[in-house]
Amino acid sequence: MKKIRYYSSFLPNQKVLKKYFTNKDYEKKLYTLISNHSNIINPKKKYKLTNGSGFLVEEMASNPISLNFLNFLTSIIKPKYILEIGAFIGLSTMELTQNLKKGGKVVSLEKYEKFHKICKKNFNKNRLDKKINIVLGDALETLKYKKFKYKFDFIFIDGNKEKYKEIFVECEKLISKNGIIAVDNIFNQGDVLNKNPKTPKGAGVKRFLKYVRHKKYSSSILPFYDGIMLIKN
Ligand SMILES: C[S@@+](CC[C@H](N)C(=O)[O-])C[C@H]1O[C@@H](n2cnc3c(N)ncnc32)[C@H](O)[C@@H]1O
Repeated sequence: MKKIRYYSSFLPNQKVLKKYFTNKDYEKKLYTLISNHSNIINPKKKYKLTNGSGFLVEEMASNPISLNFLNFLTSIIKPKYILEIGAFIGLSTMELTQNLKKGGKVVSLEKYEKFHKICKKNFNKNRLDKKINIVLGDALETLKYKKFKYKFDFIFIDGNKEKYKEIFVECEKLISKNGIIAVDNIFNQGDVLNKNPKTPKGAGVKRFLKYVRHKKYSSSILPFYDGIMLIKN
């Protein structure tokens, strides 16, 4: 009898899990099914967006399935204060405002002035500027030296992969009791699986994974997009 391996059947596009599919364009059809059944609205239609960053939204911003997941998760947590590392044009930042408690805020840390400017425009256009505080500067420096008046119920780490471990260490001090930290791109396009990662980002994410493993948090890794890790305080 053929041995079934757990690693052969945990992603929907692996052979065993699509054996009854007889058509073409499996990923496209699966994406459509997921979109339709989770009421995913194309973010470019949901929000009035200025880009002009030099990068495609599809390239740098969270995938709509990830945005939908963040929305669903925060609808359960019902956070008052959220911290985000890495805003790009502010798509995830705006999505994170959707389930804030009354008077709540999303604080987002963005290093580059050009993205910071675009974010400001997008937050104004979508009348979300009162719910968001975007801080310009290197995230690690901001985390080390800014005095935050409150702890955060949800933290989304999605920028400066090279320093993920150091950023996470600062976030451990800022997360509220029972708060959740979500860390994006924890596979870094497969680089973390290399014994010696090829990129500084891969090496940074790998150092973070090693650190967090020893801390024995309650955690879960969702293998969609580039891998998202959830860690419970
Ligand atoms: C993947 S993008 C963020 C995407 C966004 N969270 C979303 O889902 O739409 C990463 C962002 O992190 C920012 N970033 C990179 N290094 C940073 C640093 N040292 N401090 C703060 N932000 C940084 C980049 O400029 C970029 O905007």
